[in-house]
Amino acid sequence: MHKDCERIMLTEEQLRERVKEIALQVDKVYEGKRPLVVGILKGSIIFYADFIRHLTVPVELDFMVVSSYGSGTVSSGKLKIKKDLDRDVKGRDVIIVEDIIDSGFTLANLKALLLERGAASVMIVTLLNKKERREYDIAPDYNCFDIENEFVVGYGLDYNEMYRSLPYIGILKRNVYEK
Ligand code: PRP
Repeated sequence: MHKDCERIMLTEEQLRERVKEIALQVDKVYEGKRPLVVGILKGSIIFYADFIRHLTVPVELDFMVVSSYGSGTVSSGKLKIKKDLDRDVKGRDVIIVEDIIDSGFTLANLKALLLERGAASVMIVTLLNKKERREYDIAPDYNCFDIENEFVVGYGLDYNEMYRSLPYIGILKRNVYEK
């Protein structure tokens, strides 16, 4: 385990098994379709790569970089898009793949935006869900793990752009982010 982690919350094996389970459930829903799988960078990168490899339906891949800037504040404003999709979502079945849903700001705005652009459907798939932090009325359609309000890193998730490449989800030691 990394020295900055207090403990491992989700092991590589737990992640592997649960991601596969969720991906197979999602796969069934899209039988006969060709969804556009939208990864929200950067946090979702490892989950995304593992998730899509269990899908048997044909998929197209696309990515967005958005800013959750404004999250937690009173006037959140609109979602800031740093990198938009390459594909037109009009008439498409979209699967948004996210690492974590916290306040819900990002996904509430993103879902509304893609529907506004004419997506036929928008499904949200998340790796982690911090329910107690929710401020916006949005819930994932598929979620791998409900977690407590802990500072988690690894498997794509960062603190100051570090720890994303850890193969497990670890809880960061308090003294790392409080110093
Ligand atoms: C994280 C995460 C979600 C968002 C969730 O992204 O990946 O996009 O925050 O928070 P919310 O529910 O309060 O909106 P972050 O801005 O940390 O970027 P990253 O994916 O590059 O780490």
